[in-house]
Amino acid sequence: MHKQPLVIFDTTLRDGEQSPGATMSLAEKVQIARMLEKLNVDVIEAGFAIASPGDFEAVKAVALAVKDSRICSLARALDKDIEVAAEAVSAANNSRIHTFIATSPIHMKYKLQMEPDAVIDQAVRAVTKARNLNDDVEFSCEDAGRSEFDFLCKIIEKVIAAGASTINIPDTVGYAMPQQFGQMIGDLIQNIPNADKAIFSIHCHNDLGLAVANSLSSVLAGARQVECTINGLGERAGNASLEEIVMAIRTRPDFFNVTADINAEFLVPTSQMVSDITGFPVQPNKAIVGSNAFAHESGIHQDGVLKNPETYEIMRAETVGWDENRMVLGKHSGRAAFKNHMHKLGVDFDTYESLREAFNQFKILADKKHELNDSDLLSVING
Ligand code: KIV
Ligand code: ZN
Repeated sequence: MHKQPLVIFDTTLRDGEQSPGATMSLAEKVQIARMLEKLNVDVIEAGFAIASPGDFEAVKAVALAVKDSRICSLARALDKDIEVAAEAVSAANNSRIHTFIATSPIHMKYKLQMEPDAVIDQAVRAVTKARNLNDDVEFSCEDAGRSEFDFLCKIIEKVIAAGASTINIPDTVGYAMPQQFGQMIGDLIQNIPNADKAIFSIHCHNDLGLAVANSLSSVLAGARQVECTINGLGERAGNASLEEIVMAIRTRPDFFNVTADINAEFLVPTSQMVSDITGFPVQPNKAIVGSNAFAHESGIHQDGVLKNPETYEIMRAETVGWDENRMVLGKHSGRAAFKNHMHKLGVDFDTYESLREAFNQFKILADKKHELNDSDLLSVING
């Protein structure tokens, strides 16, 4: 199967920073952007340049610091926003202006207080203006997940004609269902006459816990850019998590006809950096980057993994940047893992009887203490 490249567009520094409490300093943004470059993400949305002087300076600093990834700034479909965004990214080796306007009936009526035709005119004006300042322009239909299909077709056809080369379809409020959202992306690509002149992108929020599922469903339907964030950081319940998307595609090459050229061994270090900087802890059971993602406690699982990791692991811990998988010794653990761990601590049992006795002591202790460390384990043989 011929694989097509999937553009990984990271918005940790923009949508991620919109998480209440996740504000980052300029130096921290540059530090994260350098790490994203090591990960080899294609596009870094470095901020919303017009939002504040600090945002403008941060986008500019990222544009100067990063050499390989494309640097993008968000801009409303307004002249001033677009000018400021263009200036902020101008020092980058590769840059993009990302402009947007809302397209759902509820947003147009109550938020914008504009007629649909006026929204189309403003979108076309914005894209034309952005194209005069930058060759790479992305247009987003905000709240596309709740927009009318025919209206989306109409506005998208016009903004592609005006020069937008990436069309982003956000599920701004996390309302979409995977099958339905994927179907909509496929139908848009089929029905818009000039759809072949642009890359279709998705940007899914996680209000119902479906951001990654909606993104992957859209990739199956033809989307070739995914907007996502490290640790799924983002407005409200967050955005689709970059690490989950990348590893789903990598782990199931039989299922996806795309490749993402990401240096996966930097996923865990990047996740930890974003968590340290923002102060947002990563939940232990978070896929890929949670501390338990490659930890095994139950005896049956530990025994299987010691014999062959593939019995219970679909990815290797080292692939995503962990040192190795982790055998947690607790009350569910079995004799094989206990014996293996004690061997690593320099303790070997001469007889089956001595192993059985030590294992029994270990179980008594494990009932009292949730997770045992090495000195707890040594205490079971030292008495
Ligand atoms: O969620 C959203 O709609 C956005 C757009 C501005 C892309 O973040
Ligand atoms: Zn968003």
